[in-house]
Amino acid sequence: MHSNVAPRIWLVLVCVISLGLLSSCKDSGVDGVVPPGGGQPGGGTNVSYALQIVPIFDEYGCSGCHGGSGGLYVKPYAQLMAGGNAGKVVIPGNADGSLLIEKLTMATPPIGSRMPLMGIPLPDSTVQVIRDWINQGALNN
Ligand code: HEC
Repeated sequence: MHSNVAPRIWLVLVCVISLGLLSSCKDSGVDGVVPPGGGQPGGGTNVSYALQIVPIFDEYGCSGCHGGSGGLYVKPYAQLMAGGNAGKVVIPGNADGSLLIEKLTMATPPIGSRMPLMGIPLPDSTVQVIRDWINQGALNN
């Protein structure tokens, strides 16, 4: 029982030190809520648009602007798949060819600015969840 404290202190330190401060602490899945990261990059389980992708869009402010910015609505699903001013942003099965991923990962994307506009880039593990969802067919699941 005396050995329980040390690992917790380390967990807190790792969370605080980490550049992904907000997300990595939240990603530990408090209260059994499905974390935005889903906890299984590349894993066998299908990523869910409703349960994992939408919460990422909400958490990182995408939903607030898109809403229409760039002609893009990130929800509901049909609107996201319809794309924005530049056309389709999600190509099912081809995450790295999808503008959505380029906008999240490239310092200078082919069109416009890196997303979230004026915000902190998403942690790699969070982008990977979106990648997995697209590569699994970008289902309305
Ligand atoms: C502060 C407002 C704002 C936030 C927050 C924001 N965006 Fe954007 N987004 C824009 C604007 C404005 C454009 C159009 C200009 C550009 O492409 O840089 C845009 C363009 C895009 C495009 C290209 C649409 C097209 O067809 O040209 C994608 C994809 C995108 N955003 C995804 C996201 C995602 C995903 C997030 C959250 C991680 C996000 N954005 C957060 C304002 C925002």
